[in-house]
Amino acid sequence: MNNKHLPTWYNDYKSLIESSIDKYLDTYLALPMSPPLEEFKNVIKYSFKWGKKLRAILALEFYLSLSWKDFSELRSDDDIVRVCIAIESIHAYSLLHDDLPCMDNDELRRWELTVWKKYWEYNAVLVGDLLNSLCFEIISDIKDPVKSKKISKLLSHAVGYYGMIWGQVEDLFYEKNIWKLDTSTLSGLHWKKTGKLIEASILSGVILSWEISNIDIYWDFGKKLGLAFQVKDDLLDVEWTPEETGKSVWGEQKWFVYLLWVDATKKILHDMISECYKISQNLWSKKIDFIVEYVETRKK
Ligand code: IPE
Ligand code: IPE
Ligand code: MG
Ligand code: MG
Repeated sequence: MNNKHLPTWYNDYKSLIESSIDKYLDTYLALPMSPPLEEFKNVIKYSFKWGKKLRAILALEFYLSLSWKDFSELRSDDDIVRVCIAIESIHAYSLLHDDLPCMDNDELRRWELTVWKKYWEYNAVLVGDLLNSLCFEIISDIKDPVKSKKISKLLSHAVGYYGMIWGQVEDLFYEKNIWKLDTSTLSGLHWKKTGKLIEASILSGVILSWEISNIDIYWDFGKKLGLAFQVKDDLLDVEWTPEETGKSVWGEQKWFVYLLWVDATKKILHDMISECYKISQNLWSKKIDFIVEYVETRKK
């Protein structure tokens, strides 16, 4: 589903990623043809439906702008497009598990029922497990073995113990112990649970582009944009309705807002976004500038 409020290039990138996911899955899931597995395949495809594909689009734009390649040259089996599929795969896994009754217990995601609600919990757990391993299977197929290893390490670190898992453990802990939470702990946990995958998506595109000796500027940008993304997510929880955001927004995670109220949270977000702009000015991509703006202004 393309969004008419987004620029054409964004919708073009998104369409390429979506059609490449479909193509990849059709081949990957060709066998077996047994009835239980046929239903399971539908659950996998459902898990990729809708969504902004923002992480993959970041990887793609960093790759294109740094390698001076043109979007029209891309094919769905290029390494960068495969990396986009891998990133969306691991992101989809994180959402499937995040929505489970034992985690956030949410019933609405991307304007439809969450996977566990529509297809039973065991499917949400198993498809999540599959999408996590599928990501690394795809990364292992990158032609340059050095880049494949680097990206694999980067992504596994971002979603593993020192990244998303750590963040999610703290997220669930503080949900029950919110009086123990302060803004510095909250920034750390937000960065780990959400920011690090965004940062790793950017770095994946950078690594795949060409040999860049100093990648600190991209780390810095990724860290700031990733954290800003989750702070905005907290605001969405309180400012918009499920009809607008497409997901349950009853607010257990409006934590920045809980600690600082709406206006101060908006100010923090705006300051973070200004920092991102300062860096993106040196990145020579108007598209990256747009994404920075979009992270602050998005309504879903
Ligand atoms: C939602 O991420 C989960 C968070 C990490 C806050 P997105 O807002 O990118 O979700 P989709 O993929 O567009 O649905
Ligand atoms: C999701 O965070 C983070 C991960 C999936 C790791 P939230 O629980 O705050 O995001 P939403 O609101 O469900 O998308
Ligand atoms: Mg959560
Ligand atoms: Mg959640």
